[in-house]
Amino acid sequence: MGMRIAGSLVVVTGAANGIGRGLVRAAVTAGARAVGLIDIDAGGMDEVSRELGDVPVLSCVADASDEDGMRDALGRVEAGLGPIDVFCANVGVAVSGDLETDDALWLKSWDLNLMSIVRAARVVVPAMRERGRGGLIITSSAAGLLGYLDGLPYGVTKTAAVALAEHLRIREARHGIQVSCLCPAGVRTAMTAHLPEDSLVWATGSPLDAEEFGRFALAEFERGEFLVVAQEKVRELDRLRLRSREEWFTAMRALGRIA
Ligand SMILES: NC(=O)c1ccc[n+]([C@@H]2O[C@H](COP(=O)([O-])OP(=O)(O)OC[C@H]3O[C@@H](n4cnc5c(N)ncnc54)[C@H](O)[C@@H]3O)[C@@H](O)[C@H]2O)c1
Repeated sequence: MGMRIAGSLVVVTGAANGIGRGLVRAAVTAGARAVGLIDIDAGGMDEVSRELGDVPVLSCVADASDEDGMRDALGRVEAGLGPIDVFCANVGVAVSGDLETDDALWLKSWDLNLMSIVRAARVVVPAMRERGRGGLIITSSAAGLLGYLDGLPYGVTKTAAVALAEHLRIREARHGIQVSCLCPAGVRTAMTAHLPEDSLVWATGSPLDAEEFGRFALAEFERGEFLVVAQEKVRELDRLRLRSREEWFTAMRALGRIA
């Protein structure tokens, strides 16, 4: 059994749209006592706040890649709503491409898909350790387990986010901190809206609705699950990877139509 959302202050980055918005709404449905929203989209956060009814909400405009800005935003949330019980590091960027992709795009992927989580964890984890209690929910992707053959910068940096979540899960349990890692394949959001029907994103399972995924993710977190995988095909391929790398390479080549 994991941590309860009911009675918790839940803070979500990338909260104005997509999966972040789904997590916020799911947290309120599950009985969160308050929610903190962090995003660069002020209008989107206003819309989300209006949807939430009476629950106390504090929205902060901040860029997840800016440690000082995030420290300030998280400080404002704590000053307004109290200690953060559950922090959802959800912001990420989808960069397609290959070895030849420009360094700037590789570094942007690294910065948002990994370092933004490291920087936020530096702020929230010490206070959780002191209280002996806390939850950290990291949004990686199915790409963090299986790579993403159409987007090396995305697949590689999302894999790093899974590795970070694993390290923190191992290390922080002794301080009463529960870490979960979200690894969805396709979820219908702005990030995936432009993708063609034959995109690899849809090859690992039917697309999910962001709210449905948010509810699933928090229910799995409450059950104490580490990996939150919603699509069976992703689970199967992840098991195969652990069992036999060579068989997994073959399966992934077939999936990616790589002759
Ligand atoms: N949609 C999918 O199919 C899918 C699948 C697997 C993983 N993910 C991951 O889920 C997370 C959310 O993706 P989404 O599909 O909901 O995207 P989205 O584009 O719908 O929403 C992203 C939100 O993050 C905010 N944002 C972007 N850059 C920011 C920054 N630097 N600082 C603060 N806020 C910022 C945007 O304003 C937006 O509100 C990402 O980490 C993504 O990689 C998405």
